[in-house]
Amino acid sequence: MITNPASEQPAAVGRPPAAQAAVRVAGLRKHFGGVVALGSVELTIEQGEFFTLLGPSGSGKTTLLRLIAGFEQPDAGQIELGGRDVTRLPPYARNVNTVFQDYALFPHMTVAANIEYALRVRRMPKPQRREKAGRALDMVRLTGLGERKPSQLSGGQRQRVALARAIVNEPQVLLLDEPLGALDLKLRQEMQTELQRVQREVGITFVYVTHDQEEALSMSDRIAVLNQGHIEQVGPPMEVYERPRTEFVAGFIGISNLIERAGSQITVRPEKIRLLAGDEQPADGAVVETGQIRDVVYVGVLTRYVIALDAGGELVVARQNDEAPALAPGLRGTRVRIAWRADQAFTVTRGSEPGPGHRDPGRHHEDLSPGHDER
Ligand SMILES: Nc1ncnc2c1ncn2[C@@H]1O[C@H](COP(=O)(O)OP(=O)(O)O)[C@@H](O)[C@H]1O
Ligand SMILES: [Mg+2]
Repeated sequence: MITNPASEQPAAVGRPPAAQAAVRVAGLRKHFGGVVALGSVELTIEQGEFFTLLGPSGSGKTTLLRLIAGFEQPDAGQIELGGRDVTRLPPYARNVNTVFQDYALFPHMTVAANIEYALRVRRMPKPQRREKAGRALDMVRLTGLGERKPSQLSGGQRQRVALARAIVNEPQVLLLDEPLGALDLKLRQEMQTELQRVQREVGITFVYVTHDQEEALSMSDRIAVLNQGHIEQVGPPMEVYERPRTEFVAGFIGISNLIERAGSQITVRPEKIRLLAGDEQPADGAVVETGQIRDVVYVGVLTRYVIALDAGGELVVARQNDEAPALAPGLRGTRVRIAWRADQAFTVTRGSEPGPGHRDPGRHHEDLSPGHDER
């Protein structure tokens, strides 16, 4: 589905100075019946950013996107696009386009007609329309396929058409709601790279929704992690991964590696922990703990060891299988020493209490799979 931009001005002319944020959301709240879909959300997205809303199913990602698009009205709060208050404006009066997972192409129209549709509605002359659609097709690497019908395309190609149909409007902001969710893994990875490239080339601000942490980490300039209708942390991928501020972020991005020490919740990423060999001396200032190997999981490039610690709790240690073969699974029960640099451990907060209507308080990885358990 597509929303028509407010004006026929080219985006470059209508675009406010870079000092204005592309999207600014303040005190935004939305509930549906008894369910608080969004608490009080504050968020600023800069011009030209690839910004990702990451969170589990039901955390409010789609609601936030639909509020920005204007498909929903907030209970409270304000939304600005490029410095302009659009809170009360209908979708067509906001210079925003949305790409959904299900493409929503018109099946009876050719690819070119689909892409040109919004331009035609805006009464752009045909030659100009053709040219813009042609360029959009080139951009998504579908040159020459304009005369096909959507049914004659693969899923990945249809998603590219949906993307072309959105960027042809040159919106200020492109909203993408799990656009790759219907594609298989290989195609999804290919499209991730494509989406990043297109975003850099067109320079449009992307607000991208996903529940897939790897996708978020690999594509985004910045990530906002959502949990139960509120934002837990905002930052560049590396910061969100390496320095999770809350228990939820630590658990949702990567493996939940939490232990309680001296009354604080502490997290250390598995690859930052070293399994010390027999008489190996830990580095100066390292934190050393002893324990027992409870489980060994071989995953190809690395092996994960679940260590039950003598001081309480468990930590997963990841060890790259780069030299020696992986330590064998027969090691279960072996006593070990592990060590990590003190500056690689972070204290996290428990995060805020769930709002009413939310079923599962927090989310923890019971298994060791890296966050694909929602598909
Ligand atoms: N139209 C609606 N009516 C009732 N509840 C809704 C509606 N849309 C969303 N919700 C509820 O709001 C919460 C957030 O939903 P949503 O924004 O779709 O989450 P996400 O996109 O992160 O999966 C969920 O609890 C969901 O059930
Ligand atoms: Mg959703």
